[in-house]
Amino acid sequence: MSVSDLPKIELHLHLEGAAPPDFIRRIADEKKRRLHGVFAEDGSYSYRDFNHFLRVYEEATSVLTTPQDYARLVTAVCEELAEHGVVYAETFLSPDFCGGGDVAAWREYLAAMTEAADGAEAKLGVTLRGIVTAIRHFGPERSKAPAICAAETQGRFLRGFGLAGDELQFAPKDFLWAFDCAREAGLHITAHAGEWGGARSVRDTLEALNPERIGHGVQAIEDPELVDILAERGTVLEVCPGSNVFLGVFRTWPKHPVERLREKGVKVTISTDDPPFFHTNMSREYVLLNEHFGWDEEIFKEVNRTALDAAFCDEETRAAVAKRLEGE
Ligand code: HPA
Ligand code: ZN
Repeated sequence: MSVSDLPKIELHLHLEGAAPPDFIRRIADEKKRRLHGVFAEDGSYSYRDFNHFLRVYEEATSVLTTPQDYARLVTAVCEELAEHGVVYAETFLSPDFCGGGDVAAWREYLAAMTEAADGAEAKLGVTLRGIVTAIRHFGPERSKAPAICAAETQGRFLRGFGLAGDELQFAPKDFLWAFDCAREAGLHITAHAGEWGGARSVRDTLEALNPERIGHGVQAIEDPELVDILAERGTVLEVCPGSNVFLGVFRTWPKHPVERLREKGVKVTISTDDPPFFHTNMSREYVLLNEHFGWDEEIFKEVNRTALDAAFCDEETRAAVAKRLEGE
C-alpha cells in the first residue's frame, strides 16, 4: 500500500487557491472575461513570487462573482479532495470576495457553498467546513466586515475565523477587534504566521491573538525556545511543505523543518495551501514526506489524529470523520 492511499485530513486550504485553472478559464469564457497575466502557456497559473501570487490570485478570483460560481467552485474542489483520499477538509473563505463584506450578500454565498458542500459529502464522502479569513494586506479597518460576517453566520458549516494574505503588512495586534468579535461569537481561531515573518511573527501572533492553530508557523524553527512554547501550549501548526518549498521559504524538501518540529513535540498537520498554484496535492505531499522523512503509515495516522482533534467541526462531525479515518 502506498502512503498516498491513506485517508487524509486537510486543515489549510484557500478555496479560490484550490480552483483548478481549467475551472477559472471555463467561468471566464462563460462570462466573456479576459484574464490578464494569470496563466502560463501550458495553462497552469503563472506568477513570479509570493506578492505577485497574491495579485494573480485576486485576478483569477475576480471571475467568481455570484453565489452560484462559488457553489460550483466548492463542488470542483471537493472532487479534487476526494480524488486524493481527503475525508475532511477546512477551507478559507473570504467575504471580501463573496459580496464585498456585506452580510446579506455573504449569507447568500455561504448558503450556496454550504449546499454544495452537503451535496459533495453525500456523493463523495468528503466533509467540508469553512473558516472566514480577513485579508491582512487589505488592512485592519477592512478586517471588521469579514469578522462580522463570520460572527453572524457561524454554525454547523462555518466554524472559524483567521487571517491570510501578506504577513509582512501590519501587526497581529492591529486585527484584535476582528478576532475578538469572532471569538465572542464562538468561532475557533487560526492565523497565518511564520511563513514569511520569521519566528518573531509567530511569537507576536501567539501573544496578540492566542490562536488554537497557526497557519504555517514553520519559521518558528529559528527560535528553539519558541518551539518548546508551541509544544507546551499544544498549538497546532497547519504545515504546507509543498507550498513552502515551491515558494522558496525553504530551498528543498530535506531542509523543511516539519520533521524537526514533530520530533520536538510540536503538533504538526499537513495541508496543501493553494494546490494548483503550487503544483501539489495531498497525495504528492504524503509521497514526498515518506520519501524525504521516512513518514510511514503509523506517523501519517498520528498526524491525521492530531488534525482531527484540532478540527474546528462539532463533535458529531468529528465522530463521523473518525470512523472514515479508520477506514470504516
Ligand atoms: N498565504 C497567504 N495568504 C494567502 C495564501 C497563502 O498561501 N493564499 C491565499 N491567500
Ligand atoms: Zn495559506
